[in-house]
Amino acid sequence: MNENIEKIKFHLQQLRSEIELHNYRYYVLDNPVIPDAEYDKLFRELQQFEQDYPQLITADSPTQRVGAAPLKAFAQVTHRVPMLSLNNAFDDAEVEAFDRRVREGLAVDCIEYNAEPKFDGLAVSLRYENGLFKTGATRGDGYTGEDITLNLKTIRSIPLKLPLNDPPAILEVRGEVLMLKKDFLRLNQQQLVKGEKEFANPRNAAAGSLRQLDPNITASRRLAFFAYGIGDAQDTRMPKTTHSDLMAYLSSLHFPIAKESQVVMGLKGLLEYYQTIAAKRESLPYDIDGVVYKVNVIAQQEQLGFVSRAPRFAIAHKFPAQEAVTKLLDIDVQVGRTGALTPVARLQPVFVGGVTVTNATLHNADEIERKDVRIGDTVIVRRAGDVIPEVVSVVVEKRPPDARLFAMPSNCPVCGAKAVRLPDEAVSRCTGGLFCPAQRKQAILHFASRRAMDIDGLGEKLVDQLVDQAIVRTPADLYRLGIAALANLERMADKSANNIVKAIEASKHTTLARFIYALGIRNVGEATAKDLAAHFGNLDRLMAADIEELQQIADIGPVVAQSIVDFFAEAHNCEAVEQLRASGVHWDEHAGRPAAVYLPLQGKTFVLTGALPHMSRDEAKEKIEAQGGKVSGSVSSKTDYVVVGAEPGSKYDKAVSLGITILDEDGLLKLLDHS
Ligand code: IVH
Repeated sequence: MNENIEKIKFHLQQLRSEIELHNYRYYVLDNPVIPDAEYDKLFRELQQFEQDYPQLITADSPTQRVGAAPLKAFAQVTHRVPMLSLNNAFDDAEVEAFDRRVREGLAVDCIEYNAEPKFDGLAVSLRYENGLFKTGATRGDGYTGEDITLNLKTIRSIPLKLPLNDPPAILEVRGEVLMLKKDFLRLNQQQLVKGEKEFANPRNAAAGSLRQLDPNITASRRLAFFAYGIGDAQDTRMPKTTHSDLMAYLSSLHFPIAKESQVVMGLKGLLEYYQTIAAKRESLPYDIDGVVYKVNVIAQQEQLGFVSRAPRFAIAHKFPAQEAVTKLLDIDVQVGRTGALTPVARLQPVFVGGVTVTNATLHNADEIERKDVRIGDTVIVRRAGDVIPEVVSVVVEKRPPDARLFAMPSNCPVCGAKAVRLPDEAVSRCTGGLFCPAQRKQAILHFASRRAMDIDGLGEKLVDQLVDQAIVRTPADLYRLGIAALANLERMADKSANNIVKAIEASKHTTLARFIYALGIRNVGEATAKDLAAHFGNLDRLMAADIEELQQIADIGPVVAQSIVDFFAEAHNCEAVEQLRASGVHWDEHAGRPAAVYLPLQGKTFVLTGALPHMSRDEAKEKIEAQGGKVSGSVSSKTDYVVVGAEPGSKYDKAVSLGITILDEDGLLKLLDHS
């Protein structure tokens, strides 16, 4: 019996090591070697044995990561080696001063440093006794922390047992608990679904998850751990030469360490490292708030020692704060190149993300309402990387009694044209089009583009200069440009000026479709412009059309029709059109298609398959199209009828599976007759 128990004990040990190895491969190396189902099988086997032999359950069993009962309070833990903090450097000059102090303190010309990310999480200490994870604690005041062992055990990347046959008597691993950005987003999504409060950032989410008296809540959140140093240790194997060797040792014990750590030389190496990491910051899987520089040689670290509560041999080079609190003085409305109206907060100047910010975007009216932003509010402004600063939220407690609500204007603040908001859009747009100075450059570039008026050589740089110097205000002004005006511009020789004038001249003879497209009417692309030209045949009829008439054209729905009506309702746009015609822009016109002929199969799509008994495929197509229907080559959920002849192909099967109406030749003829 005893012998049998010994055998089971041995088997369980093997099973636990195997499971922990898979944990390590999955959570630390991100490189699993077995499918999840296989892992689950091993885990269930272990659970079954432990259920049958509860006396054989050990504290380091992977089954013990979860399921512990909630605590009443956290116990206190005294750190045998205090968990100190780091001094900060906020700019290059402060890093330079640090390097100078280190060089002078050691009387060495150039220092070898280990540079690493500064994780934006929570410092913890993991104490291993004889290879087993015994106690895990928060930093607390640096001398006494809280015992959060049960919560830390739920973090899969923290080893419960060191993978060594003769483990050290004591090893305290120090590092940071954090939540990966992707897990943070997932958690907030879940919070939203559950109607619970979202976390402001991954750090708060990690802190909220770790300081739970119920470890089952911690277990339900995905937390990560990264080691960056050691505390108390009685370990003969531990490297004592450099910090980088020490980290490699911790990595060999299966602790996750930062991939981005690097050994660098001297001040130049430090500052280069800072720039490299700053550039990578957004793409890292976790949040960092700076980088940490440590003198790499441990003997040198010891020589430098500590001053009050921080080491002399290390410093944190912090990134500029990304969020700041300031006052919202007013809200202006800016008009973008495409006519979008954006509300912009005018702020009391505030230093954030390394620059002084005076404006921040409020995106659109819905966002202002959602965040309940009012003029006079105290707001939190965020500036991350290269993105435009934005107002994140309002400090409602600080709202003054005279704070004012804001309403989006109904007219463009730049040109005065009506601003409209389409039902499916978040932004309002200026309908001033060609007339609105804010949209002028974009409008002129579009006007001149290849598929529009095709003015060769009129590129962005030239348009910038022409508009900035008020030489060109509307596309019609292009036709008044002389060689002299162009040749005076930067990087413009007589010859190229000549070519551009020629290209402008040549563009005068165009087609109605190109001209309509060139006007830059919202939602009117090239294909719609062609449809409009074919339907109306001349511009005056298009300009006079109302929504109903426009909607009778195939493929033109209410949104496009409204855009067209809005465009020509602006007198400025009509004026711009007249100016263009007056400057000689012309095209061939025709009477257009007869208006408003009722076509009974308008909007219906047919697919033909197999040979019909009395009609060729082309004849059938002609008949369908004559009544306004369309014939398409493939069956989809948008198909209305499939016409089936002899020996139909797979189109027939697809039509049956999609439940589409099937007609034979007779059925088609009846439909054509009756419609
Ligand atoms: S070393 C003796 N390395 O920064 C100092 N700390 O301000 C030991 N931190 O409480 C700290 N990343 O939570 C070190 N790579 C890193 C770090 C790091 C983040 C945090 C840690 C510590 C605080 C010090």
